[in-house]
Amino acid sequence: MANRGGFSSKFGFIMAAAGSAVGLGNIWGFPYEVGQGGGAAFVVIYLLFCFILCFPVMVTEIAIGRKTQKNPVGAFNSLGYKNWNIVGRLGIFSGVLILSFYNVIAGWAFGYIFEMVSGNFGIAEKFGEYITQVFKVGAYGIIFMTVTAYVVSKGISGGIERAAKLLMPTLIGMMLILVIYSLTLPHSMDGLKFYLIPDFSKLSGSVIYNAMGQAFFSLSLGMGALITYGSYVGKSDNIISSAAFITLADVGIALLAGLMIFPLIGYMSAGTMEGAGRGPGLIFVTLPQIFGTIGGGLGIASGTIFFVLLCFAALTSTVSLLEVPVAYVVDEMKIRRARAVWLVAALIFVIGIPSLIGNGYSDFFSTNFITYKEGGQDTDFLSFVAALANDSILPLGGCLISFFAAHVWKKHNLDEELSIGAPGYKGSFVQKYLNFAIGYFAPIVLTSVFIFTVLFKFFGIQIL
Ligand code: PFF
Repeated sequence: MANRGGFSSKFGFIMAAAGSAVGLGNIWGFPYEVGQGGGAAFVVIYLLFCFILCFPVMVTEIAIGRKTQKNPVGAFNSLGYKNWNIVGRLGIFSGVLILSFYNVIAGWAFGYIFEMVSGNFGIAEKFGEYITQVFKVGAYGIIFMTVTAYVVSKGISGGIERAAKLLMPTLIGMMLILVIYSLTLPHSMDGLKFYLIPDFSKLSGSVIYNAMGQAFFSLSLGMGALITYGSYVGKSDNIISSAAFITLADVGIALLAGLMIFPLIGYMSAGTMEGAGRGPGLIFVTLPQIFGTIGGGLGIASGTIFFVLLCFAALTSTVSLLEVPVAYVVDEMKIRRARAVWLVAALIFVIGIPSLIGNGYSDFFSTNFITYKEGGQDTDFLSFVAALANDSILPLGGCLISFFAAHVWKKHNLDEELSIGAPGYKGSFVQKYLNFAIGYFAPIVLTSVFIFTVLFKFFGIQIL
């Protein structure tokens, strides 16, 4: 382990893994998915998925990582199942895709820091135009990718762990203040109702698949990110309690983001909740408006601090996204870490260019890239990549990882690894539930979700 580096403490690992989980997915993605999915009913489904399905997958990923101390491809090889390393390859592929568009959105958020500093709250109305300025937002994207690569090049405990330990607690504090503020505004209760009182008539098949995709994305599951982070974890750590903490932290911050945004939308729409279903632009439009209503120095300060923290949250995620292909290149191709980092980062930036220019700048990548069969709906490149990676490959990866652990590597080996550092694990209810979830529940549910999502998203066939 010495030459690969490792987390210096259990706390460091938990913070880094929670840092990976908590990111744009929670603060940018979750509220807009809730808005589009009709509100609280989406939230309920999402929570169920996180706890009963994703948590067992998370435990499994960390266990495989710690057992093998390898990247997602090397992990399957070192357990002796070379054929299965395709799952690791799939994970690395989806990580590359995710980072390619994630960095674009992180670049938008980064640029917002400067808009807030200069008090330009009117950017809310001009968001659509802002993202077509590809040279400007592209430069922000280059800066973001460079910082990510720098942190990753510093290795595990020096870069990743140190950054995460400081930033996560600050982010939570800032969000709590904004939640309290937004709850004091008129019509905030209409927002809360939309967010917290479920109307199950709004549930449809696609709401369910999107909730699953969102849960996987938000918890950084299904692509081996946690196999990779797990590979740096010490043998004395309790994987179950670490995974529980990471899940709770991630879900907690997503819920907090909703508590911050929906009362604001209630206020801005005078209670009609119009605009809640706006989609990916949601926080980029709603939040500056609200900082504008705070106004003055306080508005500028809170807007700036918020977007700085959002960028830090995104950074601890981009770092983990980049770490996955880098660990693979370092371990399997024997390229030096520093060189691998810059090569991979540059390549991913280039892959992200269509996502960058597909928001109004290039017609082809903005609207004509793919037309879904049913309804003839046009889709931009970024949404297409997100549907492919987040909603399709991640659940598929999670399904294969669970099936592998339970039926190929075998449950007793998994249990053995999990009981290291967790003396009470064997014979406990948690063990029984994990065995059931990983062996049967997750593979069946995830296979169904995968099939339904692909049929619906790419072929326009709606079964449910
Ligand atoms: N979980 C991150 C977020 O919610 O923003 C995104 C992510 C990071 C997904 C790392 C997957 C991953 F491996």
